[in-house]
Amino acid sequence: MAIREILTVPHPVLKQVSVNVDAVDDDLRALMDDMLETMYAAPGIGLAAVQIGVPKRVIVMDLAREGEAPQPRYYVNPEILWASGETAPYEEGCLSVPEIFDEVDRPTQVKLRYLNYQGEQVEEDAEGLFAVCIQHEMDHLNGVLFIDHLSRLKREQAVKKVKKLVRAA
Ligand code: NI
Repeated sequence: MAIREILTVPHPVLKQVSVNVDAVDDDLRALMDDMLETMYAAPGIGLAAVQIGVPKRVIVMDLAREGEAPQPRYYVNPEILWASGETAPYEEGCLSVPEIFDEVDRPTQVKLRYLNYQGEQVEEDAEGLFAVCIQHEMDHLNGVLFIDHLSRLKREQAVKKVKKLVRAA
């Protein structure tokens, strides 16, 4: 496993639409292992492959609370089969937009279909933080960042702050 570099805004690759994965094989599992290690090191609770410069439809996540055992989750070619009409705001952040947090409105419940680490097809209902996180990560697969849900002014300010932060690092 290896820790990879996380791209930050305004890197153009973050705007790319990721492509479907043909097969969940050892190469893909090695990518997912790297993604998980990179996410834990950041630290973060979700990461899309495109954030480390690999525009494939792959997401890793771990929503375990502090003190709980790790609960790594893997989503390959995820699809949203259903989303609730009810929405709620949640304060989001993103490893590609460090130190910026703002509220985004999203459906509170979604039904998902995806391939897991073994390549098995799974259907799963998501609500709460899980629903927020999977929708945020699935936006990445379509080249959309959470700041794209904000006003243009807020988005431009966010990008400016991140550029400054990255330059200072
Ligand atoms: Ni993100």
